[in-house]
Amino acid sequence: MPTEMLQAFVTPVWVTQYPDFAKHKKKFLSCVNSIRKKDKEGVTFSNVNGYQSKDNLIDYPQLTPLFDYVIHEVVRRAVDDLKFKACSGVVTSAWVNFNDSRNAVNTLHSHSDTFSGVFYLQTPEDSGRLLLQNESYNPLWDGIHLTEQINQYTAKVLNINPVEGELFLWSSHIPHFVLPNNHDKARISISFNVKCFIDDQRQQQEEPVATTNESEAE
Ligand SMILES: [Fe+2]
Repeated sequence: MPTEMLQAFVTPVWVTQYPDFAKHKKKFLSCVNSIRKKDKEGVTFSNVNGYQSKDNLIDYPQLTPLFDYVIHEVVRRAVDDLKFKACSGVVTSAWVNFNDSRNAVNTLHSHSDTFSGVFYLQTPEDSGRLLLQNESYNPLWDGIHLTEQINQYTAKVLNINPVEGELFLWSSHIPHFVLPNNHDKARISISFNVKCFIDDQRQQQEEPVATTNESEAE
């Protein structure tokens, strides 16, 4: 048997183009601009020198088509890919980010719930990149210094160039951060968290209880 490589642990990230972007861009922009106008302070979490709104964007009906798409298309695909039990996703929180200076960044952080994601609403050229960290990366590993070609096995980060209309989804535990813009225009994105709930709670009750003391992981 020839030697094969097993993909032992893989970090999936889902990407899609929001299909009705041209149709909805103006309406979405007008909604988030008015949110910022009404709440100039916003909140501070990972954002430094940028604006972040409260996380209640699901309360704005103008944005419902976006969140419906997230749940019914993107999360559905992720749930299928990960072979989850029959479950449904709910957007638990969503907020808008304005990074509108060369000093605006988002520091390293991760989220709660099941999935997290971002939708790019306005991204002038040279907008700050989103970097998702490879949790398997270990700078102390000798192998890091033995490759000239960074690939999915040796990369420290997934480097995402924000493009208007694109939407990314990942498992919420993955640490990430945002680099500064190379301009002073507004890079506008909507971030969100999704929690998945098992459709039939009886499935949980039927789950076999572990009774062994043997080691679970090898
Ligand atoms: Fe984030």
